Amino acid sequence: MCISNKIGPPVEGDDFFGREKEIRQANRLLDGGHSLLLSAPRRIGKSSFAKRLIDEKKGQNWKCVYIDLEETTTEEGFLRLVIEAFSKNRIWKQVVEGMSKGLSSVLEKIDKISLGPVELNLAKNEDRERLYKNLKDLVRHDENTFIVVDELTLFLSVLNKKEDGSEKVAFILNWLRSLRQVSKTKVQWLFCGSVGLRNFTAALNLGYTINDLMEFSLDELSRDEAAGLLLGLCKSEDVEMVDEVVEYTLNRLYWNIPYFIQIIFSKLVEDYDGKITQEDVDIAYRKLCSENFLTTWSERLVEYREYEVPARQVLKLLSVRPAGMERESILNSLMTGQEPTKVGIVDYTLSKVLEMLENDGYIIRKDTFRAFRSPLLRDYWFDRFVQ
Ligand SMILES: Nc1ncnc2c1ncn2[C@@H]1O[C@H](COP(=O)(O)OP(=O)(O)OP(=O)(O)O)[C@@H](O)[C@H]1O
Ligand SMILES: [Mg+2]
Repeated sequence: MCISNKIGPPVEGDDFFGREKEIRQANRLLDGGHSLLLSAPRRIGKSSFAKRLIDEKKGQNWKCVYIDLEETTTEEGFLRLVIEAFSKNRIWKQVVEGMSKGLSSVLEKIDKISLGPVELNLAKNEDRERLYKNLKDLVRHDENTFIVVDELTLFLSVLNKKEDGSEKVAFILNWLRSLRQVSKTKVQWLFCGSVGLRNFTAALNLGYTINDLMEFSLDELSRDEAAGLLLGLCKSEDVEMVDEVVEYTLNRLYWNIPYFIQIIFSKLVEDYDGKITQEDVDIAYRKLCSENFLTTWSERLVEYREYEVPARQVLKLLSVRPAGMERESILNSLMTGQEPTKVGIVDYTLSKVLEMLENDGYIIRKDTFRAFRSPLLRDYWFDRFVQ
């Protein structure tokens, strides 16, 4: 079997390449009883990495669960996803003699919920609290279990904006924490997402609900891994690429995240005529800037809500300056045409926006300068929004 050119959804099995060091590290931490928090930029390969870890842990006979919260925007949806995923993977206790009536009736309800639509009764606060408590008591803690929750912050930030949202967010975070605090639990968690859970919880004074999580990071591939991925893709499609052209491609991309390697390869294959030259790489690169592969970076800015417009202003400014800009100059540009009295609020907005763009991998900070992290993304932005 060999790797195939996959673009978009998380990659699994033979399509997953590299990350061996990070897998070893994460494995060690999970085996040591830690739960992990993986906040990393968009499209860096978080979900693929989480799924790979699940394969590893399944191989070691752990029970594994993957819950993608991008699929829901409501508390009820959240509970249904958890209940169904836990049922499928036998995380709930079974009815046993001596079990309280309350718990066994929740178990019956769980069975029904996993089979079809059943009311959850979340309207009354006490019913809601009882349901969460019962669900907590029904989780098995005596078997090695690995639970991945993908896009938790994305879900919570949508929930937070709804009626009674902040209360629900606090409730869910505390509930998840209480599940991790069970004495001698063998259940370990991985929370991943491109939007920082730390910033989010800190802003709501809920930092304590995740302070037991161990930070885990994922960045671009090492040079060797990046070259290995590109050559692996070439081999699978019978494409010939000499070492200098591999080097040239990786230099051109500069920020070697697997997604960029996959998309440039897909363009190179399209026009393949027996050998790949540096000119072919330049042509493929230009195509990427003018096609839709990178629109996700623009689309996801909607999640910045009130910060979307200033974020776009900053990215537009930076897309015409490959060397980057000093914070002060960005601020001056944002102030053009504004009342001078607004400088305080614009300055504060700029700090927020720069932090978010940095966390999400759009920009990088060098001393007082900010610049696009990826020249490919910068050239795309210029083509799309400036030219
Ligand atoms: N280890 C890998 N080997 C090969 N390709 C990969 C790998 N990791 C990621 N990719 C490529 O990157 C794409 C995105 O991967 P993935 O969905 O895991 O990223 P993500 O960080 O979860 O993205 P998002 O921020 O959109 O949730 C995949 O479709 C694939 O093209
Ligand atoms: Mg993902």
